[in-house]
Amino acid sequence: MKKIFEINKTIKPFEKVIKVEGDKSLSIRWVLLASLSKKKSIAYNLLKSEDVLSALDCIKKLGSKVKFIKNRCEIKGTGFNYKIKKNLILNAGNSGTLGRLILGLLINQNEKIKLIGDKSLSRRDFSRVINPLKKFGAKFESKKNKLPLIVKGLESPKSINYIESRGSAQCKTSVILAALKANGTSTIKAKQSRNHSELLLKYLKVPIKIKKSNNYDLIKVKGINKIRNLNYKIPGDISSCAFFIVLTILAKNSKILIKNINVNPSRIGIIKILKKMGASIKMVNKKNYKGEIIADLVVKSSQNLKSINCPSKLNASAIDEFLVIFLVAAKANGVSTFKNLSELNHKESPRLIWGSKILRLMGIKTKVTSSSIKIYGNPNISVKNNIMIKNYLKDHRIFMMSAIAALTFGGKWKISDLDSVKTSFPSFLKILKNIDYNSH
Ligand code: S3P
Repeated sequence: MKKIFEINKTIKPFEKVIKVEGDKSLSIRWVLLASLSKKKSIAYNLLKSEDVLSALDCIKKLGSKVKFIKNRCEIKGTGFNYKIKKNLILNAGNSGTLGRLILGLLINQNEKIKLIGDKSLSRRDFSRVINPLKKFGAKFESKKNKLPLIVKGLESPKSINYIESRGSAQCKTSVILAALKANGTSTIKAKQSRNHSELLLKYLKVPIKIKKSNNYDLIKVKGINKIRNLNYKIPGDISSCAFFIVLTILAKNSKILIKNINVNPSRIGIIKILKKMGASIKMVNKKNYKGEIIADLVVKSSQNLKSINCPSKLNASAIDEFLVIFLVAAKANGVSTFKNLSELNHKESPRLIWGSKILRLMGIKTKVTSSSIKIYGNPNISVKNNIMIKNYLKDHRIFMMSAIAALTFGGKWKISDLDSVKTSFPSFLKILKNIDYNSH
């Protein structure tokens, strides 16, 4: 049975200190890199969400041993050659990141492996990783480049040159991981996107060189045959934090301190965009951790929000946060424009289309194309009607965006698929419960 979340209350002024769970991108990367080392790796604060549990399940099927002791996760990997049983099926669940990254790691396995995923992942495009991975010599069988697919690698993959022009960290990382297993040096020219994989590999002293130019990074990766273990304390996820940043901005007379967040420059598009719109967000206690930057965020309610013509160069660094950014645009004074965002329709659900639908249900005018949206903001927005959100692809971020809209703008909402929060942010509702509400 689909669990429905009913909300007919709005947030009261609050002052809170919160923590969000570990970063999903870093958690999945840690699991995959740990599987490549024969020595034990340890992580604290690993995100225990369904996407990360799927990653753990996949590496267990590839021969790694996994152990949890409270907040500590230990992985004893297999080394660069996985131990593969016949007719192996790996299930990436809902996770595009896992599905695409793990394919990169399978290119040196000379057996057929089947990769499957849930309904949402099975409608997403895999040609974006299949095409470059074929250049290494891997073979794929699929219908229209979607899951389920079969991959067959080879004992001695060759190095490649590849241009990644979407600004997709998943494609970039899939190729970097494959390049680690290839003979010789691969060269990747990649439009800038989150760079956690590069930072982790540098920390592990893998031969990777990065030259930054305007919009692109030139990455050279040399093939190797072993890697050290990786001990890591996963910082908080800015993509989860985003829901509470926006909740606070849209609430009245409120303030929040969110502790220990990864504020890697390639992830803080939301902060840059919301500041341009007049929001009060500060990063304090900044420190460096193994190449990443971690800080606490102080956010205050913001009156007089301004519309924005959002610079497209910020798109990759805010790609998972646009749905909540759209809520701020709904309350801003004037018309906001967001362009070159066709990638949003390639996420867990077609988010540009669905985000726009939710705004319209709230009485906000939008104009949407396949790659852009105009949002006609209303600083006096107050929702009075009944709203039903049918989230048939169970997109976790559509669920959480709808909940934040309900709690700040009012109305009587019924939002389907409450369980979807388990994908990325299992404690979302628990944190919300700690805040006070007005019933209406
Ligand atoms: C991710 C990259 C982004 C993002 C996803 C996580 C990653 O996807 O949307 O949630 O961890 O590399 P794309 O690389 O497809 O933009």
